Amino acid sequence: KKDTIILAIESSCDETSAALVRNGRDVLSNIISSQISVHKKFGGVVPEVASRKHIENISGVIDTALSEAKLKLDDVDGVAVTYGPGLVGALLIGLTTAKALAYAKKLPLIGVNHIEGHIYANFIQHKELEPSFVCLVASGGHSHIVNVVDYGKYDIMGMTRDDAAGEAFDKIARALGLGYPGGPLVDKIAKEGNAQAIDFPRAYLEEGSFDFSFSGLKSAVLNYLNSLSMKGMKTNVSDVAASFQQAVVDVLSDKLIAAAEVKNSPYAVLAGGVAANSKLREELSKKGAKKGIKVLYPDPILCTDNAAMIGCAGYYKLLRGEVSEMNLNAVPNLTL
Ligand code: KG4
Ligand code: ZN
Repeated sequence: KKDTIILAIESSCDETSAALVRNGRDVLSNIISSQISVHKKFGGVVPEVASRKHIENISGVIDTALSEAKLKLDDVDGVAVTYGPGLVGALLIGLTTAKALAYAKKLPLIGVNHIEGHIYANFIQHKELEPSFVCLVASGGHSHIVNVVDYGKYDIMGMTRDDAAGEAFDKIARALGLGYPGGPLVDKIAKEGNAQAIDFPRAYLEEGSFDFSFSGLKSAVLNYLNSLSMKGMKTNVSDVAASFQQAVVDVLSDKLIAAAEVKNSPYAVLAGGVAANSKLREELSKKGAKKGIKVLYPDPILCTDNAAMIGCAGYYKLLRGEVSEMNLNAVPNLTL
C-alpha cells in the first residue's frame, strides 16, 4: 500500500508552521517559526503584526519543511490547514496558502479544527494510542475535558466558563512582571518557590462538574499583589508563582482524573500549551498511578502550536473522506 503524505499548515496565532506527515503519525518534518520575539515587547500577541509576520514567513517555512522531509510538492497527497479557532487574519494567511497549493496541485484541501489538532499530537507521540480516552486540552485560548470517543467523534465533558488555563498563566505572569508568554516563565520560577506559601482558591464548581473557572483565582492573585504593594511590602515572586500554579494544577489534575474514572478511560491524556507544564505532568502522573490510570502527554514541542498535529488530524479526516470545499472560510470562534 502506498504511503499517504500530508502537507500541513498552522497559522492560527503567533507560530507559522508547516509539516510533512506520513500515514498520520510519522512526522517527516515540523518547522515552527515563532513570533515570540516580535510580540514580546507588546506583552502579548498583536493580531495585525501576527498576520504580517505569517505572510512574510509562510513560503519559506513550507519550503524548509519540504526540503527537511526530502520531498517535493509532487509527493504530497493532501493539504491540511487550521481554519479555526484563532485570529482571523492569521488563519487567513495559512488557509489561503493551503488553498493555492491544493488548487495548483489538484490535491484535496482538508480544513482542521485547531483544538482537534492539539488532541492528535498524542497520536504522534504515542503510536499505540487509540480512542476512546479522556483528554484535557488546555491552551491559551481553550480549556476542555473531552471524551475522544473515536477519530472525529468528541463528547465535551466540560470547559472553562471564563478564562482559559493558559490565559490565566499569561495574566499572572504579566502581573508578576515575568514577561510573555507567561506559562513557561511561571513554570520555571515556581520551581524556586513554596507552593503552600499562599492558599489561593480552587474553583471545583458543582459536584461532578467538569467545567473550569479561573477568573476567581486570577482576581485572588491580583488582589493579593495589590494588598502587598499598598502595605509597601515586597512580593516573593517565586512563592506567588508556585502557589498560583499549584491551585491551577490541583483543579486540572483532579478533574481530568475524575473524568477518566467516570468514562472508565485507561488513559488520562494531556494536550495544548499548558500540557507542557512540568508541575501538571508530575502531579497528574502521581494521581493517575494511584488510580491505575495511565497519564500520557506529548513532548513540549508538540504541546504548543505546530503543524504536525494538524497533519495528523488531517490524515484521519482524509481517511474518512472529510475533504473541504475550496470556499472554506476561517472561523475564529470554531468549537470542537
Ligand atoms: O497551544 P498553544 O501554543 O496556543 C493556543 O492554542 O493557545 O498554548 C499557548 C499557551 C500560553 O497561554 C502559554 O502560556 C501556555 O500555553 N504554556 C504553558 C507552558 N507552556 C506554554 N503554561 C504553563 N506551563 C507551561 N510550561
Ligand atoms: Zn493551540
